[in-house]
Amino acid sequence: MQVDFNQVIDRSNTNSIKWDHENQEILPMWVADMDFKAPESVVAALVERAKHGIYGYSEPDEAYFEAIINWQAKRNAWKVEQEWIAFSPGVVPAVNMIIRTLTNPGEKVLVQTPVYYPFFNAIANNGCQMETNPMIFKDGKYYMDFEDLEEKTADPNLHMMILCSPHNPVGRVWTKEELIRVGEICAKNEVFVIADEIHSDLILSGNRHTPFASISEAFAQNSITCMAPSKTFNLAGLQTSFLVIPNEKIRNRYLHIVESNSLMTNTFGITGLVAAYNTGEKWLEQLIGYLESNLDFLNRFVKENMPEIQVIQPEGMYLVWMDFRALGLSKDQLEELMLKEAKIWLDEGYIFGCEGEGFERINIACPRSILEDGLQRIAAAIKKTREEGQYIS
Ligand SMILES: Cc1ncc(COP(=O)(O)O)c(C=O)c1O
Repeated sequence: MQVDFNQVIDRSNTNSIKWDHENQEILPMWVADMDFKAPESVVAALVERAKHGIYGYSEPDEAYFEAIINWQAKRNAWKVEQEWIAFSPGVVPAVNMIIRTLTNPGEKVLVQTPVYYPFFNAIANNGCQMETNPMIFKDGKYYMDFEDLEEKTADPNLHMMILCSPHNPVGRVWTKEELIRVGEICAKNEVFVIADEIHSDLILSGNRHTPFASISEAFAQNSITCMAPSKTFNLAGLQTSFLVIPNEKIRNRYLHIVESNSLMTNTFGITGLVAAYNTGEKWLEQLIGYLESNLDFLNRFVKENMPEIQVIQPEGMYLVWMDFRALGLSKDQLEELMLKEAKIWLDEGYIFGCEGEGFERINIACPRSILEDGLQRIAAAIKKTREEGQYIS
C-alpha cells in the first residue's frame, strides 16, 4: 500500500512538544519527531491493546526480544543475543545512567562536536567533564579527526566516549573503516564507547550503517549500543528504547541501576516496538524514499532561492545541517532572523557546540507543503535583510 506522506495532519492539542507551543505563528522544524503517522499496522496494534482496557505494570516478553533480534539480523546483519538486550525509557536517559554507572566524578567523557546537545548535559549532570574531539569540515563534508582523537583518548582521566552513529547533526553515516579506527583507538587507550545508534534505521541510498559492536568481539565487549524504534517509526512518545550490552559485567551494573530506580517498560511501548519491527519495513522503505525526495526539493530550493547557503548532504537521518555563515551574521542575529523575521523554529547550530555557530538544523520529516512553507519563510527573511542592507557583511 502506498503511504501518503503528503497528507498534513493537525497535531495541535496532542501534548506535542513541537506543535503545542505558545507562539502559533512560528513554524516548528526543530525537534526530531516526524509529522507523519506511524505505520497503520502499528496504529492498529496500539488500538487493539488500548481496547483491552487494563494497563497494569508490564514487562518485555519473548515477542519483544524476538522483534529486536530479527530486525537487527535483517537490517544490519547483526546477531544480537537475547541476554544482551536491556530496556531504557529513552536513549538520553540511558546515556545519563551509563555515565553515572561507569564513570567517577571528575572524569572526562569525549564527544565529537558539533553533536547532539543533550550529551553535554548528560556529562555535566553526572559530575564529569566534557572533552571534545571536533570534527574536520572539508569540502562540505565532516570527517573525524583521528589524530586529535588519539591525543585526547590518551588522557589517563578519560575512559568514555559517546559515538553518535549516524551523526546528529552533520548527517554522516560512519563507514566501517572509520568505526574500526575509532574502536582501535578506544581499545588501545581503555576508553569505553557509548554508541548512540538511534538514527541507524534511517539510512539514505548509497550508504550503509554498521553497528559499532558488530565489528568485532573486542568492540562488542567495550561498548553499549543504544537503539530504539522511536525515530524510525515516530514513536518517541511511547518512551521505549533498548540497549545492547554484550559485556556481562557492565550489563549487570546497568541492570542494577534500572532495577534500583524501578524503571519499567511502557505497555504501549512494547506493543509499538513489536508491531513496528515485525510489520513496518515496507513503510520504512517508502518513508526513506519520501525523505530523499524532500531532500532533493530542499537542495533545489536552496540553490534557486538562497544560493549562498550550503546544505551539508546527509547520508542518513531526516535532520539536515545547513551552513548560513556566508550571511555574515552573529549567532544571535541568525537566531533572530529565523525566529523573528522568518518565524521558523530551527535548532540553532551553536547549541551543538561552538563549531556549530552559523549553522542551523532543519527537520525535513514533514509533508512537502510544510517543508516548502519553511524554506519560503527563510528565503524571504534573507531577501528582506539583504534588501534592507542589514546584517549582511
Ligand atoms: C542522537 C540522538 N540520541 C538520542 C535522541 C533522543 O532519544 P530519546 O528520545 O530516546 O531519549 C535523539 C533525538 O533526537 C538523538 O538525535
